[in-house]
Amino acid sequence: MIGKAEGKRISITGLGVHVPEKVMTNDDLSKLVDTNDQWIVERTGIKERRIAADDEALTDICLPAARRALEMAKVDAASIDLLIVATVTPDMAFPSSAAILADQLGMPDAAAYDLAAGCTGFVYAIAQAHAMLASGLSKRALVIGADVLSKILDWTDRSTLVLFGDGAGAVVLEEVDKGGFIGFELGADGGGGASLWLPGSGSRKFEDPEKFVKMNGREVFKFATRVMVSSAEAILDECDKTIDDVDVYVPHQANVRIIDHAVRKLGVAPEKTVINVQKYGNTSSGSIPLALADAADDGRLEPGKLVLLTGMGAGLTWGSALIEWTHQTTGAAA
Ligand code: UT7
Repeated sequence: MIGKAEGKRISITGLGVHVPEKVMTNDDLSKLVDTNDQWIVERTGIKERRIAADDEALTDICLPAARRALEMAKVDAASIDLLIVATVTPDMAFPSSAAILADQLGMPDAAAYDLAAGCTGFVYAIAQAHAMLASGLSKRALVIGADVLSKILDWTDRSTLVLFGDGAGAVVLEEVDKGGFIGFELGADGGGGASLWLPGSGSRKFEDPEKFVKMNGREVFKFATRVMVSSAEAILDECDKTIDDVDVYVPHQANVRIIDHAVRKLGVAPEKTVINVQKYGNTSSGSIPLALADAADDGRLEPGKLVLLTGMGAGLTWGSALIEWTHQTTGAAA
């Protein structure tokens, strides 16, 4: 799916993020599995990640992020009429984490549901919220991208354990006078789905009953390097922009080598690229809003800037969004 944003102008007016308190370094992981700091840094760029406590579930880390986003946008929770939570690690299959959060936050008029598109979930969710707002069906939306992948990792599998972390980000979307979303490109290739999957987590029976993430890292790497470039190029072309027009490039934070590859192929200036994978690892749906918050706080994300977001992940899925930033969003970082 690809298209320019039509209808009312919609933008991000509030941003908030939250990560669990517990930090796990590469050295900490090397005490659990046969790995080491040098391998992890060289192959991924990751130095540490946040890990949810035993009794901390998805909605627990979403709640502070959501409150911060609402506060920044200066809106009452009760005025939100759409809440989408992009995640693959909800508290449970149902009730949805969005319904739980709508109740906790006090949003009696909100349509609330979860959306699963792997690490691309946040980009899918803002596209969907945008469409509902631009058409007038929704007046004000809260979109959360969050995951606690630590809960579904095999803590004896070094090939996946070292990559992921937990985190949440939330944005308020509303009508604005100028700027805002310019276009979206979204896609999925279920044929490659078994390269990154969670067999046994749904209604299909599998011989292997373990409910852990399984990944063919090399296949996902090849997919990622391809779509991070093709998706970004497609949306820029659709919206009559070039990479030189982009002020801030926010790629999904999976692996610094994947980001470096995209930066080289696209020809983005490195100083325009947001990288924080070293401190959070791959937080799945939380990754792009966490990176946006860091960019806002280091002064790069200011009103008037053209921002390119590109994600990829399980599904396999990918997605890009182009937005002219409209609001001051400093103070969102974790
Ligand atoms: O949101 C999407 C989520 N997924 C991804 O983004 C993953 C994409 N893939 C990747 O980022 C990379 O493929 C990895 C970081 C997962 C792996 O890097 P790689 O350069 O593709 O390594 P590899 O899988 O080819 O493994 C190289 C070696 C192997 O040893 P041998 O066979 O050469 O002796 C692995 O057994 O590294 C070994 N290895 C490790 N060694 C130390 C694999 N994991 C580890 C580890 N520590 N954690």
